[in-house]
Amino acid sequence: MELQGKRIVLGVTGGIAAYKAAELLRLLSKQGADVQVAMTEGATHFVTPTTFQALSGKPVFTDQWDARMPNAMAHIDLSRQADLILVAPASADFLARTAHGLADDLLATMVLARDCPMLVAPAMNRQMWENPATQRNVAQLAADGVHILGPACGEQACGEVGAGRMLEPEEILEEVIAFFTPKLMAGKKVLITAGPTFEAIDPVRGITNLSSGRMGYALARAAQHAGATVTLVSGPVSFSAPQGVDRNNVRSALEMHAAVMARAGEADIFIGVAAVADYRVANAAEHKLKKDTGGIPPIELVENPDILAEVAALKDGPFCVGFAAESQNLEAYAQAKRKKKNIPLIAGNLIQDGFGGDDNTLILFDEAGAHPLKPAAKSVLAGQLIQHIAHLTGKN
Ligand code: PMT
Repeated sequence: MELQGKRIVLGVTGGIAAYKAAELLRLLSKQGADVQVAMTEGATHFVTPTTFQALSGKPVFTDQWDARMPNAMAHIDLSRQADLILVAPASADFLARTAHGLADDLLATMVLARDCPMLVAPAMNRQMWENPATQRNVAQLAADGVHILGPACGEQACGEVGAGRMLEPEEILEEVIAFFTPKLMAGKKVLITAGPTFEAIDPVRGITNLSSGRMGYALARAAQHAGATVTLVSGPVSFSAPQGVDRNNVRSALEMHAAVMARAGEADIFIGVAAVADYRVANAAEHKLKKDTGGIPPIELVENPDILAEVAALKDGPFCVGFAAESQNLEAYAQAKRKKKNIPLIAGNLIQDGFGGDDNTLILFDEAGAHPLKPAAKSVLAGQLIQHIAHLTGKN
């Protein structure tokens, strides 16, 4: 749970995207955040406070004269208890009132009285968004230190198409997690390989493995949250890259090798997570192999270049991190790989833990020895590995 212990006030203002705030609340809570909802009167016309109360398990505040706070100071108490105020959706009216420091309802008063950071996710008709008044207000809020999330472009509830859609709840969740992540890799360029490679036998068949790409993609996300500029060289996987990550698709080990070597000179850190095929088919057929041509076709294998070892051998190359998936003797084999490839750090995982799946168990091996990490989601382990790398590279 990446937001464990974080106290977030979720402000909901009037707009059709208010219904998505219910999903956002669910996602924040699922990540361990303690969420208190405050709604404007306008928002209650779109979704009832009961929905948010049921999802948060807490009374929802809508009225600055609410008698439930013993000291009648909900606006002070709620914002003082928060690590973050997140307003989603943030209407044009809310942005205008906040930019001008108005305190004419509970949410506006709370925002004015806050001593914590604030993120806002604007949502409105494209003309309202483009209106110079809204743009002035947004610029003022950004200058005042408010973080503006989006808006996205696309089809709007009114049927028009353009900028003004609220970011999707999952995207806002990512922004919140990134917001709370210490920027241990600010200014660093991180190059990561992920997923399997596919070594063709003929145009439709090939040799590959069960790597899903999850561990590598989790690392790309964690490095980005930590402030790095991330480039991913990815074998064939079935999901999309984290937002903002430069993804380069490859298929074979040779393609991965070429893509990595073209970028390694620029990188500060290289993390080889991909399960790269050690061998490729030397005699891959140009046309589909036919069964009835007599005999079993011979498959001749030839060794692939060791990408990680080559990057590690570069003069003034990046800080290199490898992965080792083993079925036994994890420590001995992982440390042997680390030394053979001449890299400072390798993350060992057992095959049954690492391949596929959302969870993993990692042991980090470096010069100082073994650093076991508790079994956890790959997203959590990725954050811990990034912290370890930042520590070794002297940032923390
Ligand atoms: O993708 P997932 O389903 O999430 O699974 C994650 C994982 C199990 C694939 C990942 O955690 C992992 O362990 N990756 C490395 C797999 C492995 O055992 O690789 P290896 O022992 O063949 O290689 C060791 C290191 O050298 C790796 O960093 C690898 O990327 C690199 N290598 C290997 C061969 C090669 N030709 N070039 C390389 O760069």
